[in-house]
Amino acid sequence: MAHILLRHRDVENIKKLDVYRDNGGYAGLKKALSMDPGDVTAVVRASNLRGRGGAGFPTGLKWGFIPKGPGEKYVIINTDESETGTFKDRELLEGNPHQVIEGALIAAYAIGAKLIFNYFRGEFMDIGYAFEDALVECREAGIIGENILGSDFSCEFYGHYGAGAYICGEETALINSLAGDLGQPWSKPPFPAVEGLYAKPTVVNNTETLANVPPILVNGPEWYTAMGTEKSAGVKIVCLSGHIEKPGNYEVVMGTTYRELLDMAGGVRGGKKFKALLPSGGSGPVIVEDALDAPLTYEGLAEFGSVMGSASLIVMDETTDMVWAALKMIHFFKHESCGKCTPCREGTFWLERVLARVYHGEGTAADIEVLDSVCHQIQGKTLCALGEFAVSPVLSTLRHFPEEYQAKLKN
Ligand SMILES: Cc1cc2nc3c(=O)[nH]c(=O)nc-3n(C[C@H](O)[C@H](O)[C@H](O)COP(=O)(O)O)c2cc1C
Ligand code: SF4
Repeated sequence: MAHILLRHRDVENIKKLDVYRDNGGYAGLKKALSMDPGDVTAVVRASNLRGRGGAGFPTGLKWGFIPKGPGEKYVIINTDESETGTFKDRELLEGNPHQVIEGALIAAYAIGAKLIFNYFRGEFMDIGYAFEDALVECREAGIIGENILGSDFSCEFYGHYGAGAYICGEETALINSLAGDLGQPWSKPPFPAVEGLYAKPTVVNNTETLANVPPILVNGPEWYTAMGTEKSAGVKIVCLSGHIEKPGNYEVVMGTTYRELLDMAGGVRGGKKFKALLPSGGSGPVIVEDALDAPLTYEGLAEFGSVMGSASLIVMDETTDMVWAALKMIHFFKHESCGKCTPCREGTFWLERVLARVYHGEGTAADIEVLDSVCHQIQGKTLCALGEFAVSPVLSTLRHFPEEYQAKLKN
């Protein structure tokens, strides 16, 4: 099947504006501009497109929350992409940036925004500069700026760079950071759709989410819902890494099973046995063999106590020490906790400390109880989802591999 998102793998140089246009590029925007903005949102809603940033919120519904009528509104592309094992937005922007630009312009037209920002994580400086070259091409071709493609719609577009903080992928922290404030989340409400950037209505969408929009406009919502499952329509880029033969990005229809994905990537590296999988980078609970036949959908892993999230699969073979793996993850979350709320700031610190003690053979049975108790004091008690993410590798490895913890205890 030809790629819908990773089109640069099929069409050489599609990152150049003329090649993108020769291959149907900006036809989605043209079509949108001939429609009523409300109808554009209705098409996206009918396509069942859901956010690819991890939470799976319906995209058309989100756009529909933006108040109608005059006034400043903004669209922000979330290219923070800091989740462990996630590298799909980066490839999209490197290979096929115009599809993301086009998707964002369609979003801006639909909600009545005149300004779009692409927020890049700080380490994506080079990708950002290449993206800005694409913006220059668009400006010269009348695709960005005044009276886009001869219509009444005018919109500006800028890149912005974070300083390399995982928390700035969370939409409210991102908005604060973009506005020049401390990159920490705020307590919702207010939601960004009501009070976002500069306290004005704002849509924040993931890079991959927006790349889906132009082909939906061109081909219609039924074309999109015909792919995938009823609740999880369309295609998804899956990032495969860890102990796998052919790591990389794989574009698949939703509903493909995890086992099929592992097979596509050549199976576990070196013919070793599969042990476990982090299905959403570090932020989703570990799954084991029994979950591999589940479909890659927003709800597919629910019965196995996990989530699809951003679909970044980190594969672990039989040689992996699961206490070590949990320690690695909690080290990441402790480092990335923004420190605004106590359960996350203090809890991740203590989780790392106690887990390190267990890993180094200095722990006791009481430490296992402490780990469990600290996790439950974080769960449901934090300002943003980072707290929830942080406990999942600890609780899920304790659940699936209790014997590995027991074997390390001092007594
Ligand atoms: C700690 C944390 C980190 C996040 N990082 C990202 C990220 O790097 N990229 C992203 O698109 N969404 C990230 N999100 C989700 C965003 O808050 C938001 O839901 C998303 O950008 C909305 O876009 P979507 O509806 O298109 O998925 C993160 C959320 C949390 C709690
Ligand atoms: S949960 Fe953690 S990262 Fe999120 S606001 Fe609280 S301290 Fe910051």
